[in-house]
Amino acid sequence: MITVTPRHPALGAEIRGVDMHRPMDEATRKAVHDAWMKYLVVVFPDQRISDQEHVAFTRHFGDPEIFHQTSLHLRSDRVREIFLVSNVDEDGKLLKPSEPGQKQLSSARQWHTDSSYRPMPSMGSLLHGIEISRTGGLTQFINMYKVYDELPESLRRQVEGRKARHDFGMLHRLVGNPPPSAAEQAAMPPVWHPMVRRHPVTGRPSLYISSIYNDQVEGLGDDAAHRLIEELSEFAAQPKYMYRHVWEPHDVLMWDNRCTVHAVTPHDPTERRVMHRTTIVGSEPVVAG
Ligand code: OGA
Ligand code: MN
Repeated sequence: MITVTPRHPALGAEIRGVDMHRPMDEATRKAVHDAWMKYLVVVFPDQRISDQEHVAFTRHFGDPEIFHQTSLHLRSDRVREIFLVSNVDEDGKLLKPSEPGQKQLSSARQWHTDSSYRPMPSMGSLLHGIEISRTGGLTQFINMYKVYDELPESLRRQVEGRKARHDFGMLHRLVGNPPPSAAEQAAMPPVWHPMVRRHPVTGRPSLYISSIYNDQVEGLGDDAAHRLIEELSEFAAQPKYMYRHVWEPHDVLMWDNRCTVHAVTPHDPTERRVMHRTTIVGSEPVVAG
């Protein structure tokens, strides 16, 4: 039996009674999945797992994504399903904020949903806090079902039936890194997704935007597109729609990338922060809601 305790009225719940060192039986898996669909972000406190156990737990929900970019060393060399959300390299060395991988990670301070630049974007992500920050580094999540439900009419009219472009190549421009190689760019061409998507499990519509990847919106010039994404993100980022996760060591967070966005708050870069993430491959393309 698991226990599920909500952490915020909008989204987020804590799950006790799961041990990630062991495989889950089907009844437990289903109970966790139901809670995940209901609360969108679930927290499993006190899971001192290895990367292998992290990947094995992820596989209960789908296939782990292998990050396509290798040049900035954000993908683990040891366990290829692990994405390193860390300011420490795999040899334990603290990295400078000016280092290109760190600059790219800093984009996560803006609202986004993971891997939205893929033709089949990610279903969800699992983030394991190994060394957590005490000076900041909160991970904040927004319930995009609620945001869509309560979107002012003027904004609703601008997103219904419309698509936005998601381009991984936007990241380097955003953070001032050198452009990726032609081969890297060709491996992940921009994609267009509906701005309102229907969730494949719950059937509910939500606003689907990702401000670090959205560089174009159908029928708008670049500036107008940028302003619309900003305005939508600003409306979304209200405390009533937001769960702010304050990390404890060995929390594992699992969130739904199809109906939430997230952003991390800044922290002192001289403080070590080591977080390992798996990302679950999407099971279907984005369907308009
Ligand atoms: C992520 C991310 C959040 C964080 O892991 O996908 O955006 O807390 N980072 O660093
Ligand atoms: Mn992210």
